[in-house]
Amino acid sequence: MKRLEGKSALVTGAARGIGKAFAQAYINEGATVAIADIDLDRAQATAIELGGCAYAVKMDVTDQVSIDQAIEAVVARAGKLDILINNAALFDLAPIVDITRQSYERLFSINVAGTLFTLQAAARQMIRQGHGGRIINMASQAGRRGEPLVAIYCATKAAVISLTQSAGLGLIKHRINVNAIAPGVVDGEHWDGVDALFARHENLPLGEKKRQVAEQVPYGRMGTAEDLTGMAIFLASAESEYVVAQTYNVDGGNWMS
Ligand SMILES: NC(=O)c1ccc[n+]([C@@H]2O[C@H](COP(=O)([O-])OP(=O)(O)OC[C@H]3O[C@@H](n4cnc5c(N)ncnc54)[C@H](O)[C@@H]3O)[C@@H](O)[C@H]2O)c1
Repeated sequence: MKRLEGKSALVTGAARGIGKAFAQAYINEGATVAIADIDLDRAQATAIELGGCAYAVKMDVTDQVSIDQAIEAVVARAGKLDILINNAALFDLAPIVDITRQSYERLFSINVAGTLFTLQAAARQMIRQGHGGRIINMASQAGRRGEPLVAIYCATKAAVISLTQSAGLGLIKHRINVNAIAPGVVDGEHWDGVDALFARHENLPLGEKKRQVAEQVPYGRMGTAEDLTGMAIFLASAESEYVVAQTYNVDGGNWMS
């Protein structure tokens, strides 16, 4: 028996990277998955690649109308929404003295407000349906402690951990379990961009920051998106029914809390 048979899931930012791997893993477990992304072309290409149980939805998590329309699209297509993964996010990097309001507002708008108001819209839908649901937020090891060049992103991910606790406590009476995953360093296009930013700010050759962070992971390498899928399946499955308001580190041992 597949663990998510007949479930309807929405994964934000699923056109590539970790969200795409989550979508693939959920489909393998029997779910139908909305590949929701601001980049509709790429979401469509990903949906085609993942096959008949995937479909693309245009979604900008900073726009309330877009959030509501994405939930409506899922209900129109699959008849219900059982699982949300709040995965879309943006990274930026700057020394404290150079942080701009524009960067602050952009990151908080996507990573925090986007997470909160997508969670809210999904929870409203799940409450209307009346049979609970699962919400998984993407936090980060960056939310566990600050970093000198990564203040805004770290603050947004700390906020995601806090929102997970509050929403987890507020929604469990509706049998909606809200939990989060805190990855460490996960290789892919996202980290290609992070590496390039560090190269500029720390005067490093391209690829050097990746080499450094990989060396520091107790497991011995950077993570892959697939390293995270087991936790994402567990948190959406019946096996995690009694797990509420938690953030799980899946990071090769980088952080302990
Ligand atoms: N990669 C890592 O090392 C790492 C580590 C810790 C946490 N995370 C978190 O995991 C999640 C996925 O990371 P990733 O590495 O796959 O990132 P990614 O940058 O590869 O993918 C992010 C996706 O979000 C989409 N997106 C951006 N803005 C959006 C918006 N306003 N509305 C809808 N979609 C939007 C992008 O188009 C993209 O497809 C993020 O929350 C990230 O913060 C990643």
